[in-house]
Amino acid sequence: MSNTKDLTKAIQLLQKESVVAIPTETVYGLAGNIYSEKAIRSIFELKNRPMYNPLIVHLKSYTELEKVAANIPNKARLLAETFWPGPLTLVLKKQNNISDLITAGKDTVAVRVPNHPVALALLNQLDFPLAAPSANPFGSISPTTAAHVANYFDSSLVHVLDGGACSQGIESTIVGFEEDQAVLYRVGATSIADIEAIVGSLKVFTKDDVAPIAPGMLSKHYAPSTSTIFTDDVEKTLTNLTKKRVGVVSFCKQYNHPAIHYQKKLSSNGSLEEAANRLYATLHEMDAQPIDVIIVEKVPNEGIGVAINDKLQRASAV
Ligand code: TXA
Ligand code: MG
Repeated sequence: MSNTKDLTKAIQLLQKESVVAIPTETVYGLAGNIYSEKAIRSIFELKNRPMYNPLIVHLKSYTELEKVAANIPNKARLLAETFWPGPLTLVLKKQNNISDLITAGKDTVAVRVPNHPVALALLNQLDFPLAAPSANPFGSISPTTAAHVANYFDSSLVHVLDGGACSQGIESTIVGFEEDQAVLYRVGATSIADIEAIVGSLKVFTKDDVAPIAPGMLSKHYAPSTSTIFTDDVEKTLTNLTKKRVGVVSFCKQYNHPAIHYQKKLSSNGSLEEAANRLYATLHEMDAQPIDVIIVEKVPNEGIGVAINDKLQRASAV
């Protein structure tokens, strides 16, 4: 875990336009000064991230919102007041001084206030917000511990501020606005039901809409390098795979089958929160095993389970 000295080092690096991996309650982010072109370019280079994929801006508090966003709809204010600090990202009209690098040329900016003591301590000591995508190479599994980040990036290139394991373990939910209608761009740690309780029904973004593409919506994403099968019937999938060394990620059941070489439950007692919390760490662990295929089991499709299934589906896309 980080101490004051680590925090001071992170502050100095960020002030010098370097990139630092920071903990948030969702996943670790690769952070840089939003006003530094050098820092923002390094984020894209390190991640090997396509320039069309915009970044999320992290603020120290709701009171900073006008610095980066304009024409803020009432529903956005309600959501910010309800869920910030927390795992909800709002896509809003950007202020003119927000660079096209951050927004990928769009006239909107994605913004949130993270709910993590180390991230907030850091933001409170900086006089600029931080742009931060998840701290993983483009398309691979998101990091939920400092060790995951250290496995991805050379320590000479990325300094990691260790804030322990992320409490949510799954990315923020992303909501934008069309006129006064709230639109869901990415499912995540804040449940749809909780958002709808504040702003009424969400319009679900579909590929046919002429709306900004949120690459969290790319069909293959969050993926282990081992081939992965997503199923609601593990037994049946196992029967079709007898010759392979199989890894199984179940929701909370234990399966017995001779092909199973490695098995993990996402939750011991059927808790979706626990499953979300362990999801990426479990996928990282599976990916390190000498197995040919990973079977991941669908979880109950309610609350944060919707986001877990969405990530599992994308992890298994070909
Ligand atoms: O929980 C999170 O959101 C984490 C932590 C670090 O805050 N960050 C994260 O960032 O998941 P990233 O880059 O992996 O995902 C950001 C998503 C992308 O899908 C991107 O397309 C979308 O936000 N996004 C950013 N700006 C946008 C915009 N103007 N319009 C639509 N989508 C946007
Ligand atoms: Mg990401």
